[in-house]
Amino acid sequence: MKTFSIAIDGPAGAGKSTIAKKLAHLLQCIYVDTGAMYRSVGYYCIRNGISLEDEEAVSKELPQMDIVLQHTSDGQRIVLNGEDVSQQIRNTEVAASASKVATYGAVRKSMVQRQQEMAKSTSIIMDGRDIGTVVLPFATLKIFLTASVEERAMRRLKEYEEKGMVCNLESLKEEISLRDKQDSEREISPLKQADDAIVLDTTHMEIDEIVAHIQMLLKERL
Ligand code: DC
Repeated sequence: MKTFSIAIDGPAGAGKSTIAKKLAHLLQCIYVDTGAMYRSVGYYCIRNGISLEDEEAVSKELPQMDIVLQHTSDGQRIVLNGEDVSQQIRNTEVAASASKVATYGAVRKSMVQRQQEMAKSTSIIMDGRDIGTVVLPFATLKIFLTASVEERAMRRLKEYEEKGMVCNLESLKEEISLRDKQDSEREISPLKQADDAIVLDTTHMEIDEIVAHIQMLLKERL
């Protein structure tokens, strides 16, 4: 198969990572969860007492952040400065911090550079908010996933409950709506669908159905 790149964008909880992981497995290619990179930046700041409101202080720390995405037999691990933070970055506090630092120009520039480097000369699936518009503007296929806020909050609730975390649906709905607003209204590379992206509303679709549909679309493009 020819080298390809698939950009999957969309709001929190739209099913991006679940779908991207399955596709990467089926297509035998690398999956890059760019949200995990922004989460790592937010987590680093929380851990090191750097104010998330202080753009200059956050930006100054970027060279100190070594973020590695490791591909292991039981999934992707996120390693920040040698420490596996895959679990620690999956909570609402870190999600909100990621959304905040993602509004800063220097943070975006640094993450985009790292992501573009990863996409050089290999088939890749990347998910995020600005993949089709900024990171991989020439992607073979661009998908924009959406789903209702209720459905997305339900999915997150299930995910957190499966991990034994205590959450409630109303506060998750609130958190998701707030992040949607911050991610789509920020000045630099806001969450928006690329003009040439294919929009899929996943509210009433099964994961396998979406995966099969994207596979079919890719086949048409190659
Ligand atoms: O996909 P996620 O929920 O893990 O992303 C966490 C936050 O990171 C999200 O609210 C916005 C930001 N983000 C971004 O600005 N650009 C990306 N490509 C990926 C995530």
